[in-house]
Amino acid sequence: MTGSWLWDSAIILSNYISIRADPDYNGGFGFFNLHGKTVVELGAGTGLPGLTASRLGARRVVLTDLPPLLPGLRNNVEVNGLDDVRVEVCELVWGADELPSQLNELQRGVDLVLMSDVFYDSSLMAPLAKTLKMVCHGGTVIWSASEVRQSTDECLNELTSHGFEVTELVSQPGVSTSETGHNNTNEFAIYVISPSNPIHSP
Ligand SMILES: C[S@@+](CC[C@H](N)C(=O)[O-])C[C@H]1O[C@@H](n2cnc3c(N)ncnc32)[C@H](O)[C@@H]1O
Repeated sequence: MTGSWLWDSAIILSNYISIRADPDYNGGFGFFNLHGKTVVELGAGTGLPGLTASRLGARRVVLTDLPPLLPGLRNNVEVNGLDDVRVEVCELVWGADELPSQLNELQRGVDLVLMSDVFYDSSLMAPLAKTLKMVCHGGTVIWSASEVRQSTDECLNELTSHGFEVTELVSQPGVSTSETGHNNTNEFAIYVISPSNPIHSP
């Protein structure tokens, strides 16, 4: 299961969230205040970016993934001393017709969607786009970190063809030199993703 271990993209996205949550970031321009915000992580794996968002003040974080990954996510919430009110874990299979109740209960919608290392299989982008459209409202911000592979471009093109605009925010080398046996490019990027057509708030 690819989500059972921590991918470098998750570390890079967590660092980025921390930097943007600093009031002094870029002289205050671009400061992203997480206090009181609702956050959803898709394909969370071990959940580091979502857990980071919680530590930085998010009011509610929902970590989502396929069923086999949920026990590990719940364990990570517990060992980080976070309760299941501030950080919830639930199943969300991209492309499902309904959102889990934990997301439907977020009355003002989701403020921030986080995704790390989910751009590796272009056939998953149509279902991912469907889920993103269901999760997002007018003001939702989507940040995603990815290793830059050939498949990343294919995925982003596919996402674009399903109604999203993708802008690269940051490009940087990797954070670890782990010899995992993967064909790492050691080049990473963070993207902001937004619907091509405005989504109206509920
Ligand atoms: C490469 S792993 C990245 C995990 C984690 N975000 C990280 O960066 O460490 C991809 C993640 O996407 C999840 N995933 C893949 N297909 C999915 C689907 N159809 N619905 C929901 N999650 C999915 C996997 O279970 C896995 O946790």
